[in-house]
Amino acid sequence: MNDTFGRRIDYLRISVTDRCNERCLYCMPEGYCGWAQKKDHLSADEILRVVESATGIGFRKFRVTGGEPLIRKDIIEVLRRIWALPGVETLGLSTNGTRLAAFAPAIKQAGVRSLNVSLDALDPDLYRRITGGEVCGVLEGIEAARRQNFEIIKLNCVLMRGINESEYLPLIRFAAERGWPLRFIELMPLSHADVLDESNFLSVQELMRHLEKEGGLLPLPDYRVGHGPARYYDYEMPGLAAPAKLGFIGALTTPHFCETCNKLRLTADGKLRPCLGHAGEIDLLAPLRMGADPVGLLRAAIANKPENHEFLENYQPGRPMTAIGG
Ligand code: 5AD
Ligand code: SF4
Repeated sequence: MNDTFGRRIDYLRISVTDRCNERCLYCMPEGYCGWAQKKDHLSADEILRVVESATGIGFRKFRVTGGEPLIRKDIIEVLRRIWALPGVETLGLSTNGTRLAAFAPAIKQAGVRSLNVSLDALDPDLYRRITGGEVCGVLEGIEAARRQNFEIIKLNCVLMRGINESEYLPLIRFAAERGWPLRFIELMPLSHADVLDESNFLSVQELMRHLEKEGGLLPLPDYRVGHGPARYYDYEMPGLAAPAKLGFIGALTTPHFCETCNKLRLTADGKLRPCLGHAGEIDLLAPLRMGADPVGLLRAAIANKPENHEFLENYQPGRPMTAIGG
């Protein structure tokens, strides 16, 4: 189905929990306690009803996120049942990687094609500073995922000036050695933590200028991996056997960033969110529990999709990323 700006909306990102076992600076305000109650989380059956309705109006691509989706007890069942629905063409999972070592085989078997793993630093101390967690378990998880031969594995790194700049080249090497794309994501104002002031913001353009001093960036205008908003480049750098595939997600500084947006979000507590950077949401949970058909609400959410995000208008979200879904 198309929205009012002619964009075809066929990608649903489903947050299955707002809980997480990490505490990333940019995602969760310190001392956050706005957790949704368990009874307000969509059940597996409810998620499946929404996905089924979504396929009926043309949604074909699905990605499960959180919080940390692997925290949810019935996550494998949720994934397996989504994948079994007719009309579901691709299924992705976004994870912080901490539980991948245990879950990688089951995730693959459940039908997940594409895995996104957050990795903002390789250095253990820096990783701990950013996420509150331990990078060694994540690296084990990444290795376990590699052994499963997923169709697509992407690594995500959020750009933070003065925090993880020293990690970009090591991360590029790490991803390139495995033949995986690495995506650099501009920090979006989605948490109330101090990290989100302007002094910590690093634009993708500035990173690209910096990378060009070390090697060569070649734009790949037609290259796609998955269905996200990244623009891809080949990066040649001394010491790399083959060029690294780098994706840049410049949500705040790339002109026309929203023109190709193809998605809708479903939050763990059952709200349809047409745009990450726009507070508008449509409640689906209450109508769903009263027996309503989700199709009308999905259509309404598409019709209400704004043309652009409001990050630059000093958007202060009513809820942090962990509550909306990464
Ligand atoms: N800005 C940019 N990226 C963010 N993510 C979470 N919060 C933010 C933010 N405020 C990223 C995570 C993960 C992806 C789903 O979103 O690091 O890789
Ligand atoms: Fe957890 Fe991801 Fe948020 Fe980090 S960004 S706290 S890993 S949900």
